[in-house]
Amino acid sequence: MTKFTKIISSGSYLPKKVLTNKELESRVDTSDEWITERTGIKERRVADDSETSVDLAYNAAIDAIKKSGINKNDIGAIFLATCTPERKFPSTAVLLQNKLDIKDAFSFDINAACTGFVYALDIAKKYIESGQIKYALVVGTEKITSLLDWTDRNTCVLFGDGSGAMILAASEKPGIISSTIGSDGSYKDLLTVNTDLEYIEMKGSDVFKTAVNTLGKLAKHTLEDNNVGNDELDWLVPHQANERIILAIAKKINLPREKIIITVNKHGNTSAASIPLAFDEANSKGIFKQGDMIMLEAFGAGFTWGSILFRY
Ligand code: UT7
Repeated sequence: MTKFTKIISSGSYLPKKVLTNKELESRVDTSDEWITERTGIKERRVADDSETSVDLAYNAAIDAIKKSGINKNDIGAIFLATCTPERKFPSTAVLLQNKLDIKDAFSFDINAACTGFVYALDIAKKYIESGQIKYALVVGTEKITSLLDWTDRNTCVLFGDGSGAMILAASEKPGIISSTIGSDGSYKDLLTVNTDLEYIEMKGSDVFKTAVNTLGKLAKHTLEDNNVGNDELDWLVPHQANERIILAIAKKINLPREKIIITVNKHGNTSAASIPLAFDEANSKGIFKQGDMIMLEAFGAGFTWGSILFRY
């Protein structure tokens, strides 16, 4: 039985169209100043009508496969996190598998809203460590702007589209050290897309408070349970919803700003795509070194939450 799982590459894709805070000022009663101060967001990307979450995922997946150096036919499974599937069924994962022309694999979607990518990594790790597969393609992809009410300033300024991917492989050495996921459905109405409305509705400040509390505790426990001092943590790659949430969590674990990857200013909240997008942006710049200790953590609708601690 394989003992460990390693992240061997990452890839990402952003749609071309940039939507700035300034442009949003002409749509709703908001200002660049308010959005920047309250969230850290300056701009986000918006997919055009012809692009679906599968197209975004395809570009990110091709990028990750190319950088991994493996043959795409070595991929045993595709775990795809999204809450904006192209179709109700077949799954976005299966549509991606078809577009990538991978035959000998199984694929399925995971919907844990903004925590989806962490859930997908947790599942991929378990399949790899059971010996069932050797390589997994893990993708987060969202056309989340398709769920926005462009007249609601509480939500329309926050989100953006994109996709990120990783290739995971069986390994003799760690790799992923710990993986934790959780959920509590009693918060179902604080952040939701109701089937009859089809738009994101959010009680922003309640979500904010619970996110800071939950992620603060999760980050602390993830480090403590694995005997990793916060000075031994090289990088935090958090879900990118709001810069104030990210900095509040970093404060709780005494992590300096220089060790945190922040991309929310350029991407907005891309839901399940946010962590792999942030990771790949930093990775492409050569910021992560082999052996670095990295923590990913996310919080989303449900509520759902999760963390992954690994050596790169
Ligand atoms: O990814 C999944 C998890 N999602 C999140 O983590 C999002 C969590 N929530 C947040 O990031 C923040 O709560 C928001 C950025 C959504 C809002 O920031 P806030 O500091 O919690 O503001 P608020 O909701 O308490 O609203 C403050 C004021 C309100 O006006 P009144 O009632 O005080 O007069 C809002 O109507 O700001 C107003 N407001 C806006 N003003 C200008 C809300 N949206 C806007 C806007 N432009 N876009």
